[in-house]
Amino acid sequence: MTRPPALSRKQRWSIARASRRKIALWVGAVSAGKTMVSLLALFIAIRHTKGRGLIVIVGKTLQTIERNVIGEMQKPELFGRLAKQVKHTTGSNTAIILGRVVHLVGANDARSEEKIRGSTIELAYVDEATLVPEAFWAMLLTRLRVAGARLLATTNPGSSQHWLRVKYILDADAQNMIVFHFTMHDNPLYFEGGDPGPSYIADMEASFRKSKLFFDRFIRGLWTNAEGAIYDGWDPAEHVIPWEQLPPMYRLLGVGMDFGTQHATSVILLGLGYDRKLYAIDELRIESDAQTHRQAPSVQAKAIADWLKINHLPEGFLR
Ligand SMILES: Nc1ncnc2c1ncn2[C@@H]1O[C@H](COP(=O)(O)OP(=O)(O)OP(=O)(O)O)[C@@H](O)[C@H]1O
Ligand SMILES: [Mg+2]
Repeated sequence: MTRPPALSRKQRWSIARASRRKIALWVGAVSAGKTMVSLLALFIAIRHTKGRGLIVIVGKTLQTIERNVIGEMQKPELFGRLAKQVKHTTGSNTAIILGRVVHLVGANDARSEEKIRGSTIELAYVDEATLVPEAFWAMLLTRLRVAGARLLATTNPGSSQHWLRVKYILDADAQNMIVFHFTMHDNPLYFEGGDPGPSYIADMEASFRKSKLFFDRFIRGLWTNAEGAIYDGWDPAEHVIPWEQLPPMYRLLGVGMDFGTQHATSVILLGLGYDRKLYAIDELRIESDAQTHRQAPSVQAKAIADWLKINHLPEGFLR
């Protein structure tokens, strides 16, 4: 019989800590060992269920659940003899794990919350939680209404505005939730002398280097912005300076304008510094407002003309 692999310290620690909270979330980089350790926590949690409610495994679709969760749980090289205790026929929306019926629920659209409405859930596992609709997650929490009910989840991070981060992770204590942050250095397969060893980490880092967004998100495991960001290399720490510290300007090049009556108008003044860098020096934003007609083109034109005339530089007007 194959022996299951040893866990890293962080993985062991997370299993122990997860058991004390209602909600446990493993979040972080790719290949960090989140799924593996959370599935071990799931086996343990299934064994401890009291039959007070349903056991559900949630993923984007049944196929992703079969691949990412059931398929992994059935690997003896990861879970030893537990793997044999996972019985499932492809396409069926139930599985038998450690003798208990487990419901497999795909949650890929706004209406999927209807699938769990009315039910009582004792144990839930969510694969890739950021991909589940927010309404589903909220409904799932209301279903955990028996004593000892628990939710285990994994995910890669999303944008820093993602509902999972803003509404739940940042409020974790109040939600009786613990969040574990993992990177590839927490996976013994790649770090503690394992095979393929740390070179895999270096290769993965290299392949993500071109995009700061993806590097931060999938290698460093951070919540960083993509949606709405035009440049994935955008880094406020590097690209933003206080207005008072603008260097002297060689020329004011012009204004770029996104004019709108149904949406906000945005006007940005661009300058070329003596340091030969371009600076977005100042911005005028006119919110659209159907009630007050503040967005009428003539009103906006006047506001823009007035704005152009004011001083935009810490050192005063360019001569
Ligand atoms: N303690 C361990 N010992 C040996 N192999 C491990 C261990 N933990 C994880 N692995 C293996 O490392 C690989 C990546 O782990 P896992 O799938 O759990 O990562 P993940 O953090 O869920 O990644 P992703 O974000 O890409 O889903 C898998 O092949 C897994 O079986
Ligand atoms: Mg995973």
